[in-house]
Amino acid sequence: MTNDITAAIETALQRVSDAASLDEIDAVSGETLGKKGVLGGLKASLANIDDIEERKAVGRSLNEGFASVSAAIDERRQELIAIERASQVAGERLDLTEAMDTASRGHLHLVTQAWQELEDVFVGLGFTVAEGPEVETDWHNFEALNMSEGHPARGEFDTLFIGHDEHEDAGDSGLLLRTHTSPVQIRTMLTSEPPIYIVAPGRVFRRDTPDATHMPVFHQIEGLVVDRDISMADLAGTIEAFTQAFFGEGFTSRLRPSYFPFTEPSAEFDIRRPDGSWLELGGCGMVHPEVLRAGGVDPEEWSGFAFGFGIDRMAVMRHGITDIRDMYVNDIRFIEQF
Ligand code: FA5
Repeated sequence: MTNDITAAIETALQRVSDAASLDEIDAVSGETLGKKGVLGGLKASLANIDDIEERKAVGRSLNEGFASVSAAIDERRQELIAIERASQVAGERLDLTEAMDTASRGHLHLVTQAWQELEDVFVGLGFTVAEGPEVETDWHNFEALNMSEGHPARGEFDTLFIGHDEHEDAGDSGLLLRTHTSPVQIRTMLTSEPPIYIVAPGRVFRRDTPDATHMPVFHQIEGLVVDRDISMADLAGTIEAFTQAFFGEGFTSRLRPSYFPFTEPSAEFDIRRPDGSWLELGGCGMVHPEVLRAGGVDPEEWSGFAFGFGIDRMAVMRHGITDIRDMYVNDIRFIEQF
């Protein structure tokens, strides 16, 4: 009988340590310690032992067995409670860092990106960056650029005048919102000596009705080179180098004869999209001798070229956007794609 008790206790202890859930430990407890359990059954058979001393000894070892199995069950139950609690807590855990993971970070506007990259490209080609005011004088914006009052080309620029009064002539104050970045050519020539290699990106204003390729407030980047023996070939080469650097593979450019009062000869700069269509990006040409003179530069000694490109149009071009207005409606679903 002692052997039976030892074997039953070993089996019970093994089952206790194998129990993997509270349900299992309850089952083990019932099947070993319960009235109808293995050890319970052995207790009942004590009555069959006639020898009183032997019965006492067997009874003692049975009690010790009960005590050790019961202690092992308690210990294992505590362990299982802790394990189940931990897995419940893990399941109900609130990850408060989740919002941080998914929060999207803003980025620079498409036009700002293009503006900065254009500066980088031209600085890489040896140009420096110049600036001018958005509120300009009539003289810098028109007069010095070979468009004196009454010049028909002024009509091309639907100008917003400052201090315009219905009872006075438009532009009476002599101030206006610059219609292009070309006045920066004049300001640069008046404040620095040739050779000059500058680009001037900035905001410009026209009374243009918004459509797929026009905005009333848009951006241009002006370029001005004044040096000895500058020719149209230098202009074409610079534009080609710029096109390659900014637009990359798949884009080509062309120069088309055109007219601007401040350049002679003048050309329009178009770029071809990978789908084969062309878009006008800007004007360019050799700086007119009158403009060099207005900037205090001797046209007998120096020559130069200038260009003025639309930055907004370059941004739409590069990203294959079909309507320039899409960049300004602040629809986050559109903006965050770029
Ligand atoms: C000019 O503004 C000349 N100052 C450019 C120039 C500079 C010529 C130096 C020669 C030498 P134009 O009006 O064509 O030219 O404008 C130049 C570019 O600005 C256009 O080709 C176009 O890309 C962009 N642009 C003009 N109007 C708008 C507009 N309303 N919205 C968006 N882009 C425009």
